[in-house]
Parts: sequence; structure tokens; C-alpha cells
Amino acid sequence: MKKLLVLLLVFSMLMAMTACTSTPATTGPAPAAEDKNTVDVGIVLPTKDEPRWVQDETRFTEALKATDYSVEILFSQGSSAKEKENVDALIAKGIKVLIICPQDGGAAAAAVEAAKKEGIKVIAYDRLITSTDAVDYYVTFDSIAVGEAQAKYLVEQATGTGNPLYLYAGAASDNNAFLFFEGAWNVLQPKIADGTFVIKNSSEAVALQGNAKLNRDEMGKIIGQVTTNWDFNEAKNKAEAHLTSAKAADKGNVFILAPNDGTARAIADAFAADKAVTSYKVTGQDAEKASVQYIIDGKQSMTVFKDVRTLVKDSIEMAVAILGGKDPQTTGSYNNGKVDVKAKQTEVVVVKGDNVKSALVDSGYYPASDFTNLK
Ligand code: BGC
Repeated sequence: MKKLLVLLLVFSMLMAMTACTSTPATTGPAPAAEDKNTVDVGIVLPTKDEPRWVQDETRFTEALKATDYSVEILFSQGSSAKEKENVDALIAKGIKVLIICPQDGGAAAAAVEAAKKEGIKVIAYDRLITSTDAVDYYVTFDSIAVGEAQAKYLVEQATGTGNPLYLYAGAASDNNAFLFFEGAWNVLQPKIADGTFVIKNSSEAVALQGNAKLNRDEMGKIIGQVTTNWDFNEAKNKAEAHLTSAKAADKGNVFILAPNDGTARAIADAFAADKAVTSYKVTGQDAEKASVQYIIDGKQSMTVFKDVRTLVKDSIEMAVAILGGKDPQTTGSYNNGKVDVKAKQTEVVVVKGDNVKSALVDSGYYPASDFTNLK
């Protein structure tokens, strides 16, 4: 009997303890509930390691000062897994609109599908998310025009025939890399066919040089060979390897299609260091400050200025329309392999040594004090 009483006592003490420990979690606010509905719009950008996306963050922060909605910006640091975590964290905070620039256009489908399940509207920002119906809108620059502008610049600079041409591309996981390359090929291919340029660093491109149009698989083969993966180091290593295997006759006055500013500076430095290269012309895009200075100093030939303020403004306007229950304005659509995604597109501007000041400084994009020797 005594034993039974002791057991009963221990049992009731244990019950009391369990009740105590469970009380705060069940009656107090749960952590997830605390977070819920604290953020209206979530923004996810690919990486802080490239100035392009830090530029976008800065422009978002400036533009958002004027809205009453609460917004959170997260970076995925080049990882699709981190990107998914970011999206999940924003979903838990009750976002109603997700603005996302995917690290990998295909891999991001899972993240946006999770958002769609919660009734969140998804705006793909700059890079399309492919093979999913969970993207509602797309804000973008005219990426084919970017590639065409780069190639047009090289064509304008070339005289005679047999000019050595080195091709580089972005990451195959980025749909834009295909659009940039497609645009460049539209303009370069006829000039390869007529002998103005001779491709020096891609057997795949040489094998396809007779084709005015390339399908995605064909482009994939060339991109697979000349990809930089948008990585400065990879770009530098690849350029050095190409220069090591090229003969002196493949150098001289060279023409380089570099996909963006970060890779352009890396590739330009490698070509500048090669004694057999007498001159080089190299393209870029993004108008990153470091590249603007390279253009002023004659170390990079051109860039394609994509006014991020417009893209930011367009995506915020879209988000505000959605939050207000209205249909956002669009100008066309992009097929992502599964659906036609309604899109708003922005034009681009070519910047060379002679219009750096008017395009980038006089327009209020950068202060003159950010550069030296600006004329
Ligand atoms: C963007 C470019 C950028 C590149 C590398 C592309 O998707 O459109 O502006 O330079 O990614 O981050």
C-alpha cells in the first residue's frame, strides 16, 4: 500500500512537471505564429559575391523607402538549397508576393512551387524560372538585345578578315546565358561565315559555325565548352588555358565576347598579360563600377548598361498591384518550357569610352566622384 502511494505521488509529480513545461508552448504565442504576417513582400537574390546583385539590393532598398509595405531581402549565396531555405523562411513570415532571381533557373522550381501552394504570387526577377507553372510574372531586360549589342560592338571594331575571336558564356543553369549567346550568335555568325572572324577557343562553335540559328541543345554544347559559370576565377583560368594552347598566330589583335563585366575584367587581365596579344577588344554587361573604371582606363572596351532602377521599379509596381488586388501591367510573355509567363521588359544601353559620362553619370546612376580620370 505504501509502495502504491509513493508510486502515485511520483506519477502525479511527473504529470505536474509535464503540464508546466508544455504550458508556455501551448498557451503562449508559438514562435512561428509570432513571425506570421510580419513581411508582405519577400525578395531573394542570387549572391552577394557579384557586384551586380549588390547593386540590385541597393536599388531595392532605395526604392522601398517610398512604400508602406514591409519587405525582406535575402541572398542565396550561389546555393539552390540556401535559396529554398530563404523562400521557406519568407513563407513562414506570411509573405504575399515573392520576387526572386534564381541561382539556377531549373532548381528554383521547387521553391516557387512551395510558395504557390501557399497562395503567394511569384515574380521572377531578371532570370526566368524554368519548367514550372508556379511563376506568375517576369521582369527582365531584353537579354537577346544584350548579346546582340556585345557582338555588334566587336563587328564594328573589326577590319579585314581572319580576326581571332574568343567566345565566353555565362552559366548553363541561367536561362539568360542562352539568350545572351543567342543574341551574340545572330550578329557574329554571318561575320564568321564571311571570314571576318575565326573562332579560336571552341571546337563546338567551330563545328556549328555554318548554322545561322542554333537550337538550345546546340547552344548548350558551345556554352558547356566556354562557360565561365559567371565566376571570375573560372573565367580567368579558362582564358589562361586558351592562351596557353593558342599559337602566337592565333593572337595579335584579338576580339573577345565576354558575357558580363565581372568575367570581362578577369578575361581582359589574362589577355593583357600575354605578350603575343597586341591589342584586345572585350565586351561586358552590367555597368559595374569596376568595369566603368576599366572602360575609362581603356582596359575593357564596352559594357551594356541595364538600368536596375527600372527593373526594381517594375517589380515593386507589380507587387503593389498584386497586394492591392489588381492585375500588374505587362508588355509580353516568355515561355519557360511549361507556360507562357507574362513579362515586363526593359531596354538596354551600350556604354563605351565616349558616353560613360552621359549614360552613367549625367543620368544620375553613379556620382562622378566614384571614378578617376572621367572626361
Ligand atoms: C544577369 C547578368 C549578370 C549575370 C551573372 C545574369 O542572369 O542578367 O546581369 O551579370 O547573371 O550574375
